Amino acid sequence: MSTRIQILGLCLCGWIALAAGAIAHTGATGIVKERMEAMKSIAAAMKGMANADWSDVPAARNRVIENATDLEKHAADIVRLFPADSIHGPSEAIPTIWERPDEFSKIAEELRQATAELVVNAKSAASKEDIQTQFEAIGATCKACHRDFRKKK
Ligand code: HEC
Repeated sequence: MSTRIQILGLCLCGWIALAAGAIAHTGATGIVKERMEAMKSIAAAMKGMANADWSDVPAARNRVIENATDLEKHAADIVRLFPADSIHGPSEAIPTIWERPDEFSKIAEELRQATAELVVNAKSAASKEDIQTQFEAIGATCKACHRDFRKKK
């Protein structure tokens, strides 16, 4: 197994863990609920891409393009989902979001851009390795934003 494939495998575990962590949040309302749903869709899109079966290249491309297109839409909407001081119920958001709003929106924009690049790249990709760079760039934005702007578990 190549190191690259191992890296993909490891990243996928992280995303599944993220998605599983989401299940605990019942009782969220309003914008908090809306953004939790959005983050869940984002995680589902990541999983959908990671699980694409590249033995059928056209199908894998389509799967990646579909999921990445969906993810890009959600990424473009992240900042709207965090209006000032919107922490209530089971929210794991932290006030740093509104103390360093430029950094927060910069990471959201990096996610959107990496996803847009992935859509373009996937159109000519022949294997998982061909989308590896964008895929990792996307994963890096999830990690960076959660590290700085989400409650530590
Ligand atoms: C710009 C910042 C930012 C980016 C980028 C980001 N997230 Fe999040 N994410 C958050 C914050 C903040 C929360 C906590 C929201 C809350 O609980 O109110 C969160 C929560 C989540 C949750 C938990 C949702 C729930 O039901 O509580 C999941 C799953 C998640 N993110 C997945 C991802 C994945 C996967 C990516 C990358 C593809 C990603 N996020 C990118 C900021 C971000």
